[in-house]
Amino acid sequence: MKKLVKNDYENMSSDAAAIVAEAIRKKPNLVLGLATGSTPLGMYKELIRMHKEEGLDFSQVITFNLDEFCGISPDNKHSYRYYMYQNFFNHVNVMPKNIYIPDGKAEDIEEFCREYDRKIEEFGPIDLQILGIGRNGHIGFNEPADRLKVDTHVVTLAEETIRDNGSFFDDPLDMPKRAITMGLGAIMKAKKILLLANGRKKATIMASLLKDRHVTTKLPASFLCLHPDATIIMDREAAGEAL
Ligand code: F6R
Repeated sequence: MKKLVKNDYENMSSDAAAIVAEAIRKKPNLVLGLATGSTPLGMYKELIRMHKEEGLDFSQVITFNLDEFCGISPDNKHSYRYYMYQNFFNHVNVMPKNIYIPDGKAEDIEEFCREYDRKIEEFGPIDLQILGIGRNGHIGFNEPADRLKVDTHVVTLAEETIRDNGSFFDDPLDMPKRAITMGLGAIMKAKKILLLANGRKKATIMASLLKDRHVTTKLPASFLCLHPDATIIMDREAAGEAL
């Protein structure tokens, strides 16, 4: 696992965007795995700038998002679909037909999950997967557990995850308690993985991940140690205790 420490959030974000841009220039029909949350916002902003000012072309890129809350409709402002369009897709030329995001309102959610994996298989494996990390070490919404699922599935969110995300909702109690997430299978099959982490609140988990190299389902991100091409880019604050 390669580790890069950047001075600040801006540098972390621009480095991540540069890696994505290089991958798209090399392979215009890149299969790109995307994350939401606060961490990748700077990267999306920089990719939008590159599209507008440097002509970075997303017209053939295929995107798969990691996760979505269950029970909220795609146009709900708290859905990850809404987030993706607001913060990225509306500002670049990704074709709507090439955008895949789990549907938290799917009628038959089990069938939806199977179909999502089939789509990833059809276009994949994912060439470049962007990940954030939860304070409890989750990737996607694969929460610490005795066993981790391989396939896309519905997960009950951990208390910590609900607390961390609840503040984005007008009433934190409206925060869904379940989500659909890609499993460890599609993530680990990605040819290249880029995990981003910033801020002091990620320092403790980054220290557990990096200091004592081991693999455990209690820290889902630890599986990245086994991946042949995983890079972590973090800012100084997140790297603090790990250095
Ligand atoms: C979001 C996702 C999550 C987040 C993680 C960190 O699509 O997959 O694993 O990356 O919860 O969230 P932030 O970036 O808000 O700290």
